[in-house]
Order: sequence, then C-alpha cells, then structure tokens
Amino acid sequence: VQAQIGEHDTFMHKEIHEQPESLRRMLSGRLDDRFATARLDGLQIEARELRKFKRVKAIGCGSAYYIGQLGASMIEDLARIPADAEAASEFRYRNPIIEPDTLYVAVSQSGETADTLFAVNEIQRKGGTVVGLVNVVGSSIARACDGGIYLHAGPEVSVASTKVLTHMGVGFALLALALGRVRDLSFTEGKRILDGLRNLPDQVAEIIAKEDEIASVAKELTHAQSLFFIGRVRGYPVAREGAQKLKEISYLHAEAYQASELKHGPLALIIPAMPTVAIIPDDELVDRNIGALHEITARKGKVVAITHSEIDLEGTEVARIDVPRNEVELDPLLLTIPLQLLAYHVATALGRDIDRPRNLAKSVTVE
Ligand code: AGP
Repeated sequence: VQAQIGEHDTFMHKEIHEQPESLRRMLSGRLDDRFATARLDGLQIEARELRKFKRVKAIGCGSAYYIGQLGASMIEDLARIPADAEAASEFRYRNPIIEPDTLYVAVSQSGETADTLFAVNEIQRKGGTVVGLVNVVGSSIARACDGGIYLHAGPEVSVASTKVLTHMGVGFALLALALGRVRDLSFTEGKRILDGLRNLPDQVAEIIAKEDEIASVAKELTHAQSLFFIGRVRGYPVAREGAQKLKEISYLHAEAYQASELKHGPLALIIPAMPTVAIIPDDELVDRNIGALHEITARKGKVVAITHSEIDLEGTEVARIDVPRNEVELDPLLLTIPLQLLAYHVATALGRDIDRPRNLAKSVTVE
C-alpha cells in the first residue's frame, strides 16, 4: 500500500491531491475552440440530434446523485432546458414515466452500483436514451449505456469519493456546453465556459495549497456533535456533498439544508455548539445568503464560510475559506474542494479510519 500512496498517509489524501493532474487529463482533447463547444464523441449522439432532447434527468446514488443535482443546474443555466436529478435507488422503485425526448444521464464512479444499473436497464426497456458519466472503463453501467463520457480520473480506492466527483461535475459542464451550443448559447458564451474549464486545474491546485489553513479550521469543528451545511440553488448540492463527506469518514452528524429553508424549521436547532458550514458563491443570491448568516449569528450560531475573497460577509463568520473565482456556473466545483479537505482533517483529528469507514463499501453492488 505504501508504494501506491507514496508521500500520502491515505488513499483519500492522495486522491484529493491528484485532482489538478487528473482534471488536465480529462479535459485534454475535449475542448473545441473552433466551435466553442465540447467534443464528446463517446456520447454517440450527433450534435444536431442533441437538439431533440427537451429535458435531462440525472440518476445516481449518494454523492453521484448530489453531483447530478449540480449538473442539472449547469444544464439549466447553459442549455436552458429543464433538468433535474434523482436518487437511482428511488427512481427504480417508483415506476417512473420514461420519455423518449428526455436524455437520461447515469452517474457512477464504479459503474457497478446495483440501483443505478437497474435504473439504466429500466429506462432502456421503456424506450429511453441513457448516457453514462462513468469512471471505470468497461464496467457494467458503462457497457449498458447507449453512450457516455468517460471520466478518466484514474483508480479511486478510498471509500469516500473525492476526485471522481469533481470529474463528474466537469463531465456535466461539458455536456451542458454541448447541449447549450446546439441551442441558444452563443459562441462567445461557449468560449467563456471553455476558458473557465481550462482554468479549473490550476485553481484546484491553489485551493489544495491552502491545506494547512483548512486543517486548522477543521480542528475547531472536531468538538461539534452535529453540524449544518447550507447552500442555496447552486450552493445546495455542494452543501449536500460536504455533509455527506463529513458523515462518511468522521462519523459526526451533519445535515445539509437549503439556506432559504432554515427559517421554516431547522433554525430552532441553532445554538453555539452547532456550527454551520455555509456555501456562499459569488452569484446573484449572495445578499440573500448573507441574510441567512445574520439569522444564524443572531441565534449565537457559529459560521464557517466557504466563499470567495471578494465577498464581504459583514462579520458573520468565525472562519472562512476562500476559493478563486471562475465562471459562475463552474464555481460550485471549486467550492467542493475545501469540503473534501475539511472532512479529511476532521476525521484525521478524530483518529478515524479514513479509507475504510465503518459499515460502508466502495461500491454497492447489492440492492
Ligand atoms: C461517496 O463518497 C460515497 N462513498 C457514495 O455515496 C458513492 O458516491 C455512491 O455509493 C455511488 O457510487 P458509484 O459512484 O460507484 O455508483
């Protein structure tokens, strides 16, 4: 094992650090500057045929589902077609209505998750088109799908997924760009996203370089028994993924909430011992998000903000981790990176088994 993880103490740590390089590999050959779009031959769908889809639905389990939700918002933003995400484990059991003009996207690292595979089979039986965002080449889901985008993240060993989730997000950005460019997304806007994608690997490296700072924020969180992760619209899937990562490896209780829903109930739980990790992108909702932080601090809640240095949080935060700005549609990808390191350092400080958390398997091949 030591030979495989080198200077790192765990696979999770190694996989977090691999991201800048693995992202460069994933993007190579897929950015088409001539037509300001993404080159996605593996989809097996002609560019013009992409126009026939009136809706996109992402399905996956656990973190793959949360990233699907983020992907759906990228597709709505860039291609302006309705998109949503659902847990494959729910989808398969509720006799879903399959539409021929919906593009279904199966999202999976392993390509072997039983619930996702079953959902793919069910969609195809009823005449739907499914493409895969899959990491493991030749896996069952990759083979079952009608086409797809391989994630090329390399092997991921740690049960807690990190680099592959970032690759899934990038996969969705490429798909959103391709869908947008055969609709209303202009050449200039397409170029803006291509440039943003090109900047991502270096910006991810910049965030990882702040590891010591993130570790000291993590140390303060080890005393909490329970945490909130909040976000709004683009930030909400990021919050869900942040809570999931922390739960999986630190065993601390964490709950993700839409920032806007706090006042409808969970605000009652805010006390000094229940910190909130708040995801604050620099988008049109920033003022509303800061409003939510004031509601928390008024109840003596402590806020750790994951945000950008340009944003003035009006003194509501006890700590903040700033990530560089990219394009508004891609910023959520950068906002997830500190949450990987935060979970890792909380769990390390608590002496947990990082790569093999209790009760969990890397891939869930049973129902
Ligand atoms: C992620 O950290 C989890 N271990 C888990 O939620 C995982 O994403 C889920 O089980 C789906 O796995 P897959 O991507 O291999 O299908």
